[in-house]
Amino acid sequence: MTILGIETSCDETAAAVVRWRGSDVPGEILSNAIFSQIEDHAPFGGVVPEIAARAHVEHLDGLIARALKDAELGWDDLDGIAATAGPGLIGGVIVGLMTAKGIAAARGLPFIALNHLEGHALTVRMTEALPFPYLLLLVSGGHSQLLVVEGVGRYRRLGTTVDDAVGEAFDKVAKLLGLGYPGGPAVERAARDGDPSRFPLPRPMRGRPGCDFSFSGLKTAVRQVAESLDFLTDRDRADIAASFQCAAADVLSDRTENAMALASETIPPGHRRLVVAGGVAANMLLRERLMVSAHACGYEFVVPPLNLCTDNGAMIAWAGAERLALGLTDPIDAGPRARWPLDPDAAPARGAGVKA
Ligand code: KG4
Ligand code: ZN
Repeated sequence: MTILGIETSCDETAAAVVRWRGSDVPGEILSNAIFSQIEDHAPFGGVVPEIAARAHVEHLDGLIARALKDAELGWDDLDGIAATAGPGLIGGVIVGLMTAKGIAAARGLPFIALNHLEGHALTVRMTEALPFPYLLLLVSGGHSQLLVVEGVGRYRRLGTTVDDAVGEAFDKVAKLLGLGYPGGPAVERAARDGDPSRFPLPRPMRGRPGCDFSFSGLKTAVRQVAESLDFLTDRDRADIAASFQCAAADVLSDRTENAMALASETIPPGHRRLVVAGGVAANMLLRERLMVSAHACGYEFVVPPLNLCTDNGAMIAWAGAERLALGLTDPIDAGPRARWPLDPDAAPARGAGVKA
């Protein structure tokens, strides 16, 4: 099957064509066109939803045409079309979803209204044909979750953030330090020359039972440190960025170790794999730390290549193909959703104003 995937839930406009040859073989990415709106949002220090939606309108048609051209395919070669239907910034989601519906209706193609998080969750099946089940740490701008991925559409949440998502914390720390947007890569770059032990920052939740996260106290502590210095030099910025990144990695690896212990009750030896996905999975320190944790807990460590960690169209096309292969298509009136948990049965995290 050859599937067109459309992604417009945040600040990347993306369209990709992926070929699916079975659930036990990797997918083939025939094209992966992406337009990053960084320049549009940079002057505002973060994503402005209305600007994002308008930019999606402006660029999406051209990106779809390019995705087909790069794949050397025409409309007749497609077997289905998938678009992110949420969670995300609703204006942008509507742009991608309505475009996909228009194409599906005009071409008589099966249509899949996809959960963006499922796109992240299943990416490793496209890259490595990873079998179910596996443990997933999903870390992005809006989400920090630990889930057992049991199958397509079958997720069991072990933990989530009780306040901010980790990507959000990276973005806010970058803004605070004047490192610009997007925050995650900027903090990582600044931290390269920094001393991670100069500022003793808190490690919220570390050592506690369970798999939930909290990042807002860490973010506040970073602000207090920054405000305690009269003037931020480049050295101060680098040291704060490194101290924050190290604290975040400590917390994430501690909670993930608890999740591995918990998941081992149901995932048999030989099947124990830790997958990290979402934009923050592009962070090198985090990858190294989680690999060490995984091996210490008897888990294989699997992470998608960098360009498939952050938002892209291929992950949407692939997850759409996985659904289509199971006959899981959606009606043409499927609506956009600002919020859409992968595990709707999960109880809210304790003490939470939960965002994830
Ligand atoms: O998955 P993603 O592209 O979009 C969402 O679905 O949210 O994730 C974006 C998030 C942003 O918060 C960004 O700052 C963070 O991922 N991010 C990183 C890095 N690259 C992107 N965080 C830490 N280190 C990175 N290298
Ligand atoms: Zn994402």
